[in-house]
Amino acid sequence: MKITYTLASAADATRIAVMSRDLIETGLGWSWTPERIARSIRNRDTVTLVARDRGRLAGFAIMFFGDEHAHLNLLAVRREYQRTGVGRCMLAWLEESALTAGIGVISLELRASNHDARRFYRALGFQETRYIPCYYRGRETAVRMERGIRRSTSRAGEPPRPGSDGEGPAADRK
Ligand SMILES: CC(C)(COP(=O)(O)OP(=O)(O)OC[C@H]1O[C@@H](n2cnc3c(N)ncnc32)[C@H](O)[C@@H]1OP(=O)(O)O)[C@@H](O)C(=O)NCCC(=O)NCCS
Repeated sequence: MKITYTLASAADATRIAVMSRDLIETGLGWSWTPERIARSIRNRDTVTLVARDRGRLAGFAIMFFGDEHAHLNLLAVRREYQRTGVGRCMLAWLEESALTAGIGVISLELRASNHDARRFYRALGFQETRYIPCYYRGRETAVRMERGIRRSTSRAGEPPRPGSDGEGPAADRK
């Protein structure tokens, strides 16, 4: 298995959307449709990253870049590639881009019921900052997580520096 990480192209939109529907939005309806993903790929303020195994889509991540904050909208790894470090590598890639852009905080929301992903983000140094009731479709609670990033001390997978949290941009709800 040799995974490569590149920016998504328009041709990836449908496969990414299907992964979002099946791995992230299960039971919520399908809000990240192929059209919406295609808009993200075109959006200059958003990075849509894909992980490929010899051309096959193994995972993807979508991150919005603000002036000082970045917001991770979606991240998923196909089941057969989970726990092989693909998620960690995609976040490290995005963190490096965020650092280059002068960003100090990465934030995200995820379903409070998604305990595996909460463990994943905690393992990568994110902290849970608050619950947001009725965040998804007016009925499901989200957890907000944040991680401060600084080139000198903090890298993906290591704990954040104390006092490095902050408010991210408006969330792009699932
Ligand atoms: C959450 C997700 C992105 C993690 O990606 P991944 O590639 O499997 O994660 P990695 O292999 O990089 O894991 C890095 C570390 O996170 C932790 N971790 C990852 N998955 C975990 C799990 N299911 N349970 C506990 N810890 C976990 C571990 O510490 C792991 O390191 P280790 O394997 O050396 O022990 C992936 O499981 C996924 O796509 N889930 C479905 C979609 C989803 O829930 N997305 C997040 C909400 S948008």
